[in-house]
Amino acid sequence: MNDQASNIVILTGAGVSAESGLGTFRDVGGIWAKFDPMKLATPEGYAEDPDGVLEFYSARRENLIGARPNGAHLALAGLEQAWMMAGRGDFLLVTQNIDDLHEQAGSAGLIHMHGELLKTRCTACGHVFADREALALTRICPSCGHAGGLRPHVVWFGEMPLGLDPIYEALARADLFVAIGTSCTVWPAAGFVQEARAAGAWTVELSLEPGEVSALFDERHYGPATQIVPDWVRRLAGSD
Ligand code: APR
Repeated sequence: MNDQASNIVILTGAGVSAESGLGTFRDVGGIWAKFDPMKLATPEGYAEDPDGVLEFYSARRENLIGARPNGAHLALAGLEQAWMMAGRGDFLLVTQNIDDLHEQAGSAGLIHMHGELLKTRCTACGHVFADREALALTRICPSCGHAGGLRPHVVWFGEMPLGLDPIYEALARADLFVAIGTSCTVWPAAGFVQEARAAGAWTVELSLEPGEVSALFDERHYGPATQIVPDWVRRLAGSD
């Protein structure tokens, strides 16, 4: 444990929201075991069957209703507040998740690198707006009035993730990098641990089980996020 850490970058994945009732992607019975990502999470899939894609994301919005942050989200929000109050250094939370549970828990310094399920983007004018409604081709862009071009503001396979410049800047300065509840199988997030190691950061994996790049982490703890994340935060805070 590097207890002199000052600049911290945290990466979360679907595992941090699993105990809030939201599905993961590659675990047994995961989202991609039930739905074809090539049909539902690519620009080509949207072009071929926009209705089907909008229905898929509308159903995922439905799933979010009633979902609440769990102990892991809350522990990370608490760590951010303590970190900033103590003026300990930079704190960046990067999430691959498109839910709003980190925000509900109170996290502020947050980058949604795969976009946000509760935002909608117009393919005609690029306008992005907060939106909890069901998506449909009949809906009209509130900015340009175009109909039939609204899509969820999420990053699909083959599209450029969001916020990469500030993410790589933070990784280049990181003293501590923590990957939580992610299989680290999707690039560029899968490469963040190497970026952090190159910057000399201490690297930690907190997940249910080892993933594809676990051997690259200096420290690894496995178990449900609602148990291992608060434990890890308490140990980190305790090392002040
Ligand atoms: N507590 C902690 N970790 C968990 C839990 C839990 N309760 N349940 C599952 N996990 C871990 C799994 O062990 C796995 O390592 O969460 C990870 C989930 O991996 P994936 O399903 O691949 O999800 P993620 O890593 O977020 O996927 C990355 O892939 O399809 C794209 O855009 C999608 O953002 C997603 C990206």
